[in-house]
Amino acid sequence: MITPKILAFAGSTRKDSFNKRLAKVALHAAEQAGAETTFIDLLDYNMPLYSKDLFDEQGMPGGVIEFKEMLKSHNGFLIASPEYNGSLTGTLKNAIDWATIKAKGEERMACWDGKIAGLVSASPGSLGGIRGLHHLRTILAGIGTFVLPNHLAVSNSETNLQNDIQITDEKLQHQVDTLATEIVRVVRRLH
Ligand code: FNR
Repeated sequence: MITPKILAFAGSTRKDSFNKRLAKVALHAAEQAGAETTFIDLLDYNMPLYSKDLFDEQGMPGGVIEFKEMLKSHNGFLIASPEYNGSLTGTLKNAIDWATIKAKGEERMACWDGKIAGLVSASPGSLGGIRGLHHLRTILAGIGTFVLPNHLAVSNSETNLQNDIQITDEKLQHQVDTLATEIVRVVRRLH
């Protein structure tokens, strides 16, 4: 039985991001379920706005190469996606777009093909950012990633996400635990 390697990141670069907190809560649950886990902050990866001209003239930016290596070296992703105007953030979409650009000699969609993703979102509002998750799901499915059927939106994030370990609302914490257990189980089944 393999030890699934799960990577978590959030579509926010904000210092006190609720989604970064939620990504860490979900990752903690995945670790409890038997995964080897890594958290990354997109702020640490220099990924300029995607431009084909920039790519043609200067090649793949260093931050993109590093981000792609992180994706490639993990079996599954827990992605915490903030909702901006009913969709995912430009930051997250830009990172995904860069990571679909093929380097010389690299297989198509090498970062995404056959990977498993679990999606979560957090928002101070009452819907928890759930609308953005539907868009993110469609994007990931389109680039070859298997997205777990259930996803989770944490509303009232100021109350619910006060630390990196546990959600205040027990029912939501149970749903995170279930999602984390599921990603570990599915990665194991596919390997
Ligand atoms: C928001 N926010 C927001 N929230 C929501 O639930 N639905 C939405 O459509 C939007 N739209 C939106 C647009 C823009 C441009 C901003 C800046 C914010 C609020 C958002 O959920 C809130 O700022 C979260 O705290 C963002 O996530 P992080 O950075 O805390 O992870």
